[in-house]
Amino acid sequence: MLNRREPWTPTDRPRRLRTTPAMRELVQETRVHPRQLVLPAFIRDGIDSPVEIPSMPGQFQHTEQSLRELARRCVDAGIGGIDLFGVPKEEDKDAEGSVAWAKDGILNRGLEVIRDEVGDALVIIADTCLDEFTSHGHCGVVNDRGAVDNDATLELYAKEAVSQARAGAHIVSPSGMMDGQVRVIREALDDEGFEDVAILAYSAKYASAFFGPFRDAVGSGLQGDRKTYQQDPANRREGMRETMLDLAEGADMVMVKPAGYYLDVLADVAAVSEVPVAAYQVSGEYAMIQAAAANGWLDRDRVVRESITGIVRAGADIVLTYFALDEGVLS
Ligand code: PBG
Repeated sequence: MLNRREPWTPTDRPRRLRTTPAMRELVQETRVHPRQLVLPAFIRDGIDSPVEIPSMPGQFQHTEQSLRELARRCVDAGIGGIDLFGVPKEEDKDAEGSVAWAKDGILNRGLEVIRDEVGDALVIIADTCLDEFTSHGHCGVVNDRGAVDNDATLELYAKEAVSQARAGAHIVSPSGMMDGQVRVIREALDDEGFEDVAILAYSAKYASAFFGPFRDAVGSGLQGDRKTYQQDPANRREGMRETMLDLAEGADMVMVKPAGYYLDVLADVAAVSEVPVAAYQVSGEYAMIQAAAANGWLDRDRVVRESITGIVRAGADIVLTYFALDEGVLS
């Protein structure tokens, strides 16, 4: 015979704190504020009107004029910043990516336009890398054995960063995963009198297939892959090592990228970092949500909010996201 008992009633009732919308908001642990969002944006040389990026519906390669308008919208929306990438003309690419540091190179022109439009009302971040500008599509120079040459690349990053500071960037952001890039850039900026320009280090950046749509966005002709410089997605501890090195080299902010599939790495980094931690919700994360929503398979606004909230909950102080100007994001 089974023992008969009185029906059990719980005494701990977490549901009490979920009874009304006001109650739920009162106890909400994570809130996303527009000021902590950064919009990645693209400027392309040689176009007359903005070109929508096929694999990133809703995102455009901008002209100088449309970039100006976009920067103004960022200010009006009250977001924190804009992160600019440049798309040069095909014929301007070379083995070193020299248009990256040319004063009239497309990225530097874009930075000037934004700074002219918004001044200090928005934090202007420059992507400091060579892949958009090199004929082979790698983030650095390639030596005669076909390998990406770390130390030869560092000098070029230093020149690029200084040119970006001169063009008006408040922050430069080395994203190429070369060893020593933060220190070399810091020294170069200081030597040129740009000691107030900050460095956002892409510290734990993984060789991710989620960057796929971005390569359309910048017209990348990459042959091969980036596995000798970007990290293996399987490695968590290594993300911490990369971060500690960047902190020691003088990073003012560190970043984990991609974001949504690397929340463990992000939480690790957030637990030890003495500087603000950023996370980049990348092109593939954006494209998947857009595609599913276009099919009516997901409630877009809710998924966008949930994805960004998850990144902040895991420890990001700053989120780079293509959804930053999205009406539904914060409402
Ligand atoms: C490289 C760079 C990449 C992204 C930002 N900077 C691509 C890559 O490493 O291949 C990807 C951003 C995204 O996917 O949204 N300069």
